[in-house]
Order: sequence, then C-alpha cells, then structure tokens
Amino acid sequence: MPFMKLIITDDYQESCRVAAEMIRDLIAEKPNAKLGLATGGTPVPIYKNLIEMNQHGEIDFSEVRTVNLDEYIGLDGSHPQSYRYFMDTNLFDHININKANTYVASGIGNAVQNAAILDAKVIENGVPDLQLLGIGNNGHIAFNEAGDHLVACSHIEHLTQSTIDANARFFESKDEVPTTAITMGMRGILSSKMPLLVATGAAKADAIRGLLTNEEITTQNPSTFLKLHSNAVVIIDRELATLVGI
Ligand code: PGA
Repeated sequence: MPFMKLIITDDYQESCRVAAEMIRDLIAEKPNAKLGLATGGTPVPIYKNLIEMNQHGEIDFSEVRTVNLDEYIGLDGSHPQSYRYFMDTNLFDHININKANTYVASGIGNAVQNAAILDAKVIENGVPDLQLLGIGNNGHIAFNEAGDHLVACSHIEHLTQSTIDANARFFESKDEVPTTAITMGMRGILSSKMPLLVATGAAKADAIRGLLTNEEITTQNPSTFLKLHSNAVVIIDRELATLVGI
C-alpha cells in the first residue's frame, strides 16, 4: 500500500497509546501544533492517555490549537450529547489547554453560517498538523456519509440511519439522536498534514477492508478518499486486521 502507513497493534489499548504518543511527539516538535480532533467512542481512551501525559508533564498544551470535525445541529454546547461538551469533559477540562484556542462548530443558530465558520477555522493560521479520525460502520469520516456524492466544504449533513443507530447508544433513546449535523467536508479532512484514523471492532471490518485492501476510491465508503493523501496513517488492532483479512 503506497503512501498510507498502516500500524497493526496487539490490541485497542495499544492503538490508543500509539495514537497518543504520535500526538505527544508532534507537540514536542511543534508546541503550537494545530490538532484536528474527533468525538465518538474510539478517541476516548486516546484522550485519557493525553490527559495522563499532560499530568505527568510529558505534553504541554498551552500553545496547542484545535478544531473539531463536527457538531450536531440543534444541540447547544452545554448539552451533554453535544460534541463541545464531549470535548470539554473528555479532554479540555483536564489539560492545560487555552479553551479560546479550541474550536467546535456551533450547533445552534444559522447552520449554513456555522458551517462556513468551521471551514474558516480549518485553515486559520494554517491547516491541522494532524487530523484524528474515527470511521463509521458505513465508512463515513467525520459526518461525511456514504452516498452517491460527497461534499468538499464544511456543510450540513443528513445523518444516515446506520449512523443514527450507531450513535443512539449515547442517547436515552434513538428518537433523541439529532438527524442533522455540521461536518468538516472532505477537503478540510484531506488538507490536514497527517490524517490519523484509528479503528477497532467487527462493525468496522467492511469499511476498513475497503480502505486498506484495494486501490478503489468510492463515495460509498468516504474513508477511501484517504488513499489520495500522501501521509495518512491508519491504526488498527490485530483482531480487526484478522477480520479484514490482512
Ligand atoms: P465511534 O464512531 O468512534 O463511536 O465508533 C466513529 C465514527 O462514527 O466516526
């Protein structure tokens, strides 16, 4: 597989440690690094590692800048299921970052304008040095959903049933899952200097197989567009690699 770097770890715990170490090393080299960050279940242990490293003096976030991939439309940042709240409680509140240097799109107000602001934030003072990514069961990255086309700029996305079903676990009931979100577009993701995708679990096997085992690019699996990037990194554990057949 030219260009894309694949790291296969013993287990998901190790995947998360390796991802956190890559972020640590980046910040050591560039103290004001710009990180593109992600939400969802996958990055939570990565953020736990970063919090520990910060507490042990191994990372200084004081000059670090961040921009997040997406936010649900209709949820204020104080809503426990909003991605702003997620980032605060899973990372920012526990590290020495200046929250003024963190950006999560607003889920309330004019969504079109909010998406345009997100696009401006992606390139403000330089593109992200590293973009952390999870992957949806349907291959989505951020909320760029699988379908007959993708969108380059940050935009409003109607979530697929697969995504709503997958994310229902974070809500009291499926009915509460927002059906629309603001998401960074494919250009924003591919503009980062290093997309870093971490995946685990059998539900991701089909999407990861499409990403790693052939040279095809398809809007039906948005993660496959990472094949166009010259510096993308994918971290999966041995269990997932076996399911994928690599
Ligand atoms: P997950 O979501 O980390 O909760 O599995 C990933 C994604 O939907 O991108």
